[in-house]
Amino acid sequence: MPKIITLTMNPVVQKDTAVAGIIPNTKLRCDPPVYDIGGGGINVSRVLKELGSPSLCMHLSGGSTGDHLRQMIAMREITQKAISIEDRTRDYLSVTDTLTNLQYRFGVPGPHVQKQEWEKVLTQLQESLQKGDILVASGKLPQGVPSDFYIRVSKITDKNGAKLIIDTSGDALLPSKKASIFMMKPNLKEFSILMGVESISALHLDSLAKKFLTQNKCEVLVISLGAKGALLATKEFVEYIPSPVVHQKTTIGTGDSMVAGMVYSLVQGKSLREMVHYGVACGAAATMRSGTQFCNKYEVEDLYEWLKKNC
Ligand SMILES: Nc1ncnc2c1ncn2[C@@H]1O[C@H](COP(=O)(O)OP(=O)(O)OP(=O)(O)O)[C@@H](O)[C@H]1O
Ligand SMILES: [Mg+2]
Repeated sequence: MPKIITLTMNPVVQKDTAVAGIIPNTKLRCDPPVYDIGGGGINVSRVLKELGSPSLCMHLSGGSTGDHLRQMIAMREITQKAISIEDRTRDYLSVTDTLTNLQYRFGVPGPHVQKQEWEKVLTQLQESLQKGDILVASGKLPQGVPSDFYIRVSKITDKNGAKLIIDTSGDALLPSKKASIFMMKPNLKEFSILMGVESISALHLDSLAKKFLTQNKCEVLVISLGAKGALLATKEFVEYIPSPVVHQKTTIGTGDSMVAGMVYSLVQGKSLREMVHYGVACGAAATMRSGTQFCNKYEVEDLYEWLKKNC
């Protein structure tokens, strides 16, 4: 079976707490913090683990937050390859005011990654990727990493005969379309940026997807449409796959869960259509959960069966 490697260039350690009333100039006695890990590829590895598929979680980490990140990945029994950086892995604090139920989120700038550090990632990929392997490059890039980084990654996946899946946003998004990619998973807003248009209506989505595939070296395009499902496009066909209606509790991690579901399905040798069905089921299942678990395998399977029967 092919190996799955996830790559997270800008992981995060999340710290969640709660307090009754956020009042300025007062010492606020908050609840004991709950720590968690995040970042595109790490989330994909977590969901793959829930689905029953191993993956190698490759990430950059540094400083005390980096140590903590590594510990928490190990506690989840996810195989990891941590590439050390000098600067400190970013952290993120969210505080819920229990009087209003409003959540306040505080982010600070992430690390500055040095040239020799991001080059180490490329060397590591060069050494690890073999023919047929899947590399999921997910998430934004930290400061210091060139915005064409994923193009450099694609040269390695191409050379080693591995499949590259990209799900990114921010500065790395536009340059990535010039990479040689097996599959790209933008949401609608990201796809508008990729196509250089303000907004996209349902009437033009198919033709824009085809145009994207003709103009770029991307084999499969999956545009996620939130509660509306997803559009699967290749040079040969375009198909719309609706998402089942579910009771939505959160929208956090829907995209990463969807990518994990598609990768899981791919390594099982499923068709592209089945792959997107499974991805949509995982994305929908993720909205039903709140807290630290993105999705539950049994709920995913139920939603997948429903999709197979009804779509
Ligand atoms: N409210 C919802 N109800 C049902 N399914 C949903 C809902 N929101 C998302 N999904 C499913 O999850 C998939 C991915 O969601 P979405 O398009 O929001 O990804 P995203 O914008 O990349 O998310 P992220 O913020 O995690 O990056 C959708 O294609 C859909 O199948
Ligand atoms: Mg996304």
